[in-house]
Amino acid sequence: MSKATAPGKIILFGEHAVVYGRPAIAAPVSQVRATAVVEASDQPGVHLIAPDLGIRTLLDEADEEDAIAAVLRQVQTAVNLPAFPDMSVTVTSQIPIASGLGSGAAITAAAVRALMDFLGLARIATPAWVSALTYEVEKIHHGTPSGIDNTVVAYEQPVYFVRQRPQNQIEPFTVARPLRLLAADTGARSSTKEVVLDVRRQWQAQPERFEALFDGCGVLAKAARRAIETGDEAEVGRLMNQNHQLLQEMTVSSPELDGLVAVAQAAGALGAKMSGAGRGGNLIALVTAETETAARRALLAAGAKSVLTSCLKTKSQP
Ligand code: PMV
Repeated sequence: MSKATAPGKIILFGEHAVVYGRPAIAAPVSQVRATAVVEASDQPGVHLIAPDLGIRTLLDEADEEDAIAAVLRQVQTAVNLPAFPDMSVTVTSQIPIASGLGSGAAITAAAVRALMDFLGLARIATPAWVSALTYEVEKIHHGTPSGIDNTVVAYEQPVYFVRQRPQNQIEPFTVARPLRLLAADTGARSSTKEVVLDVRRQWQAQPERFEALFDGCGVLAKAARRAIETGDEAEVGRLMNQNHQLLQEMTVSSPELDGLVAVAQAAGALGAKMSGAGRGGNLIALVTAETETAARRALLAAGAKSVLTSCLKTKSQP
């Protein structure tokens, strides 16, 4: 039996603009994880089981859109495997789907790792390899993913990311003082693919305006990296508030997100913003040990469906 897990993620700065080559910052959320288990089966065939998604099928009978089947086909091609042995692949996830926490990328990365281990090929499955394969699967579901989700989920550390050719810029950076973040779920689900497509339509209709908005997000992400590296929490919070305003101008926020962002700010958060594709999903709020409880209570009282605490820190920090 082979088992692997992968974390959720939040985008701290630069969602959407990252698709257009501007820098962004994202971090893993290690408390919520996707898990994949691969086991030998005494029944013939490859059995795909995803209770959360209502999937129970054979690989040979899975439709084109099937998320887990896509992972298996990618792995099979990548390692040149003529056929899989009889086995079952079961995936479960604590990460809410379509909520901006990267559930798709986490499920894929966990499944890739468990499969590679089961096939005796774990040594090939480095973070870079897992990230590249996860990206291929993300492309099937999301059209034009920037690559930031698969990177954070596969490396499981905060990254400063720039989408570029021939190779993305992926820089782990130092977090001078660990940052305490709340991720609050509006409960509204939204399709990353559709929101990303809508931003593309708007960019095509108003290229100058959208290029300027993307530039603005890029400037904020760069400044945020400096603030995080120097431990200037107040500045990180201010930059989050500014990034939220730019995302509002891109029309990717929503009344629920705006309402909860305002609630977090009023409850003492140093800053707050939507996170991920938007029009639903999660917002994040930067809090301190002193303001965490009040901000959490206020968010739940205002209708947040759940509030997770996530600590942004360098991998080696306790
Ligand atoms: O909603 P999520 O968690 O899939 O985040 C999407 C982030 C975008 O910048 C909007 C798209 C991308 O591919 O980077």
